[in-house]
Amino acid sequence: MVDGDSKLEKLLQSTWTDLEKATGEPNHPCRLGQIATVHSERGVAVRTVVLRKVDRHGRRLWCFADSRSDKIHEIEADPRVAWLSYDSMMRVQLRLSGRASVVTEGDIVDTSWASLNDTQRDEFACAASPGTVLKEGWDRPETPPNRLSAAEARRWFCLIEIFVGRVDWLQLNPTGHLRARFKWDGAGDLHSAWVVP
Ligand SMILES: Cc1cc2nc3c(=O)[nH]c(=O)nc-3n(C[C@H](O)[C@H](O)[C@H](O)COP(=O)(O)O)c2cc1C
Repeated sequence: MVDGDSKLEKLLQSTWTDLEKATGEPNHPCRLGQIATVHSERGVAVRTVVLRKVDRHGRRLWCFADSRSDKIHEIEADPRVAWLSYDSMMRVQLRLSGRASVVTEGDIVDTSWASLNDTQRDEFACAASPGTVLKEGWDRPETPPNRLSAAEARRWFCLIEIFVGRVDWLQLNPTGHLRARFKWDGAGDLHSAWVVP
C-alpha cells in the first residue's frame, strides 16, 4: 500500500469524475461499459451497457436493464461482477469490480423510468423475454400482439447497482505504461498502489 500518495488520490478522483461526466455525455468514452457476470454453465458472460449514474462517495455505478434478461438472473445467482471501459483517446483502460444488486422499485427506478423517452421505454415492451427464440422470424417483436403497454413495460425495467470494491487503471504511454490499483477492504479503507503494468 502506498498511503499518502497524492498522485494516486488525484488519479482516483479524476477517474470518478470521468465516470460521472460519462453519465451526461452520450459520446464520452466511458459512457459504454462492458459488464461481466458469473454464468453457471459458461463460467462468465459479458455485454455492453450504458453507464447511467455514478456515486463516488458510495462507490456505486448504475445501468438500466430488463429484469427478464440473463444478466439479471446471473447477478441474482452470484453478485460478483466486473466492469470494463476503454478511452482510446487517452489510452486508458478502466477495470472495476465489485458486487451487483438488482433494483426494481423505489425513487431511483421511478426517476430513471421518467427520464426515458417513448422509444427507450419501448425497449421493455416486448411480451417475450430478451433472448427468446423467434420462431416466426426476426422482425416479429415489432408486430402489435407482442407489444406491451407502457405501464406493463415499466414492470420489466430495473437498474443494476454495482458496489465497487476494486479499480484497476492502466494508461498506455510510448514512454512507459502506467498502472494503478485501488482496493477497499471490508472496513471500507482504501489501499492504493502503483503496480507493474
Ligand atoms: C451500444 C450498446 C448499448 C447497450 N446498452 C444496454 C443497456 O444499457 N442495458 C442493457 O440491458 N442492455 C444494453 N445493451 C444490450 C446488451 O449488450 C445485451 O445484448 C442485452 O442486455 C442482453 O444481455 P444478456 O442476455 O446478457 O442479459 C446494449 C448493447 C449495445 C450494443
